[in-house]
Amino acid sequence: MLILDVYDIKKILQKTGFKDFFLELIDVLQNDYKNWDNFDKIPRVATHFPYGVIELMPISDEEFYTFKYVNGHPRNPKFDKTTVMATGQLSVIKTGEPLLLSEMTLLTALRTGATSAMAGKYLARENSSVLCLIGTGAQSEFQTLAFDTVFDIKEVRYFDIDPKTMDKFEKNIKKYGFNLTRCDSAREAVRGSDIVTTITADKANQTILTRDMIEDGMFINGVGGDCPGKTEMSKEVVEASTVFVEYLPQTKIEGEIQQVCDDFPAIELQKVIKGEKSGRKDDKEITLFDSVGFAIEDFSVLKLIYKLAKKYSTGKELDLIPVMDDPKDLFVSFEN
Ligand SMILES: NC(=O)c1ccc[n+]([C@@H]2O[C@H](COP(=O)([O-])OP(=O)(O)OC[C@H]3O[C@@H](n4cnc5c(N)ncnc54)[C@H](O)[C@@H]3O)[C@@H](O)[C@H]2O)c1
Repeated sequence: MLILDVYDIKKILQKTGFKDFFLELIDVLQNDYKNWDNFDKIPRVATHFPYGVIELMPISDEEFYTFKYVNGHPRNPKFDKTTVMATGQLSVIKTGEPLLLSEMTLLTALRTGATSAMAGKYLARENSSVLCLIGTGAQSEFQTLAFDTVFDIKEVRYFDIDPKTMDKFEKNIKKYGFNLTRCDSAREAVRGSDIVTTITADKANQTILTRDMIEDGMFINGVGGDCPGKTEMSKEVVEASTVFVEYLPQTKIEGEIQQVCDDFPAIELQKVIKGEKSGRKDDKEITLFDSVGFAIEDFSVLKLIYKLAKKYSTGKELDLIPVMDDPKDLFVSFEN
């Protein structure tokens, strides 16, 4: 079984570069979204604790089965641990044999950036060049670089309640040549932006975005509101937008739309990608991608990273499954 640790993911990204990796991942994601009806899907299994949430995210198609273990603990940085940590596995359907066990903290950040950018292709104005980030924590650089593969991002406007986190973001992203506009409030950061990404962590119903902050034609990419009782914008922002979601049964529980009535007309993104529904209709429409993170995105990134690991001979083969000459002689594992 192939094992990929964080250093292996780094090696693979050094070979591909962020841009080509994101382009290929967006391609894989789009194809998997097109194959939506052939996936066996369930809302993720979430166990809630006073400190955060731990989730299991299984999914399969005709060929592969994947699952991710992931947490979300907004207070973790106070204990020098990252808010989101993840591992994941890829298995073959035909025999059930696990092929890959991988780190997924980095892969989650990469796939979340790629999913946001893919949604942006259908939901943002084509000439979008100003990206706003509310929250400049662990996911923020990945969001910025992913959007820059789909759009020609010229300016990034950003705000975080923690100034040290904004320093960190500037240090990491300055070499990529964006005009960086550090703001004193979310309101200032949103002003004049084409794409507004909210990517904060707090186990609370926050109202970071209010209706009066939102301008005609904006694409809101709501990423941080992803649990019951954990949202980032007012109900009026949701109601003023055309809302797109990943998997409706899961987003109804976890997304911004938990604030509105059960029959709120949210559109699954897969329908737009398959050409069954339209994405953005005109330059004035306010669109909202109510992202919570769905298992198909982990499936896509695990499949791609497995292919790239084989291509670049990266990772370690470990006997996590017993190796036997006679498949019925498991006991021989204790001999010799
Ligand atoms: N939808 C998805 O697919 C997906 C994937 C990954 C992470 N997430 C979610 O995204 C969020 C961010 O993840 P992360 O790993 O970057 O977390 P992080 O803890 O590293 O960063 C979050 C940042 O938000 C800031 N923040 C909190 N409240 C704020 C406010 N009111 N205004 C401005 N800034 C504020 C914090 O200071 C922190 O720097 C989490 O809630 C996580 O659960 C969603």
